[in-house]
Amino acid sequence: MNIKGHAAIVTGGASGLGGATVDMLARSGAKVAIFDLNEELGKAKAHAVGGSFFKVNVTNETEVEAAIRAAEELNGKARILVNCAGIGPPKKVIDREGNPLPLADFSSIISVNLLGSFNVLSKFAAALHTADPVGEERGVVINTASVAAFDGQIGQAAYAASKGGIVGMTLPIAREFARYGIRVMTIAPGLFLTPLMATLPQEAQDSLGKQVPFPPRLGDPAEFANMVEAIIGNVMLNGETIRLDGAIRMAPK
Ligand SMILES: NC(=O)c1ccc[n+]([C@@H]2O[C@H](COP(=O)([O-])OP(=O)(O)OC[C@H]3O[C@@H](n4cnc5c(N)ncnc54)[C@H](O)[C@@H]3O)[C@@H](O)[C@H]2O)c1
Repeated sequence: MNIKGHAAIVTGGASGLGGATVDMLARSGAKVAIFDLNEELGKAKAHAVGGSFFKVNVTNETEVEAAIRAAEELNGKARILVNCAGIGPPKKVIDREGNPLPLADFSSIISVNLLGSFNVLSKFAAALHTADPVGEERGVVINTASVAAFDGQIGQAAYAASKGGIVGMTLPIAREFARYGIRVMTIAPGLFLTPLMATLPQEAQDSLGKQVPFPPRLGDPAEFANMVEAIIGNVMLNGETIRLDGAIRMAPK
């Protein structure tokens, strides 16, 4: 699909990988709606690119439905959804005192990363599936998993499970949506230099970057956005997860 002139939604678009995706989509001529919890950053990003901001918690069905309707009134039917909203504080299953991880901690990560992605994609597709196609297809969903879906580290049980869930649902949903001409893809990034990573001391950033076989550095969020652009542009890409990681395979810790 050609990006130019189409309406797009980016969850987590206020910051990091989502923010770079918003930049790319706006530059390519899309009408971009940012769905994010962070009002300050989200509004600033929307203002910078001539897009719009909707304060949305991706786990909330009512908020997501209302924002999809409001974005459609503003920009027309959204054809592109990029799910980038995500959280991931690491915690071990058993802490130093021998206590098990409270279920609520595990559940909150599953809720934002996995249920939130499903919540937005299901409502996006429900709104889109009866619209007129654009050429061969109606639209495309791109989810963000992580290499942790495959090589999760100690402390990443909930995060890895949430991202593994995203990888697992990609093919069945792509198969279901085939009849509507809506593609479903997932990107599994390795280590990218987003605001979270930028708070680490330069030494720590360099040491993490050196673990990447090639190129031996952290990924640039613009490189994630390039992948999003390539997926949107190539209609044969469907039902697959692409690792974007410079060949890194994460160690146990
Ligand atoms: N940065 C990396 O190296 C890396 C690697 C692998 C995967 N990822 C994944 O990429 C995605 C983006 O990560 P990032 O590094 O850009 O993080 P980030 O913290 O810079 O951006 C995440 C955005 O999601 C928003 N968000 C969080 N919870 C939300 C909710 N419930 N509803 C709506 N918005 C919410 C935040 O406000 C923030 O703007 C995440 O899913 C993350 O797991 C990142």
